[in-house]
Amino acid sequence: MSEKVFLYEELLKEVKELMDPKCGDIANMANFTAAIKNKFNFWWCGFYLINANNELELGPFQGPTACTRIGFGKGVCGSAWQQEKTIVVPDVHQFEGHIACSSVSNSEIVVPFYKKGKLIGVLDIDSEHYNTFDENDAFFLERLLAYLD
Ligand code: SME
Repeated sequence: MSEKVFLYEELLKEVKELMDPKCGDIANMANFTAAIKNKFNFWWCGFYLINANNELELGPFQGPTACTRIGFGKGVCGSAWQQEKTIVVPDVHQFEGHIACSSVSNSEIVVPFYKKGKLIGVLDIDSEHYNTFDENDAFFLERLLAYLD
């Protein structure tokens, strides 16, 4: 098992324990991003949620300050929303329309976030390194998000 898969297996157990059914989404989403950020020390990890104006709006996150609103189909986040699929970006500088909230970010993954079968936002993770994310991240992050359903 690779180190990454091992850490994700640990994270699955930790996040399952961490999610508090007596809390609202914000508390659980905040802890969810903290658990991921601390496990892998990613540069930035956070949610964008679809707001009343049909834009993605910054939600609970861990890391430096970030862009607050992203349009449908814009950037990696808006594209993952539009396509309703996980997008892995090995080099953000090669992604047309990438929104640079931070010049430090070099690779990124964005995973659609569903609740009760409805897409309500995305989970976005940025790395200061190139080629950080692959199909393992997509697989495990999708599984982790199911704990927030
Ligand atoms: N890079 C993202 C914007 C959000 S920040 O990375 C936190 C994008 O292109 O959608």
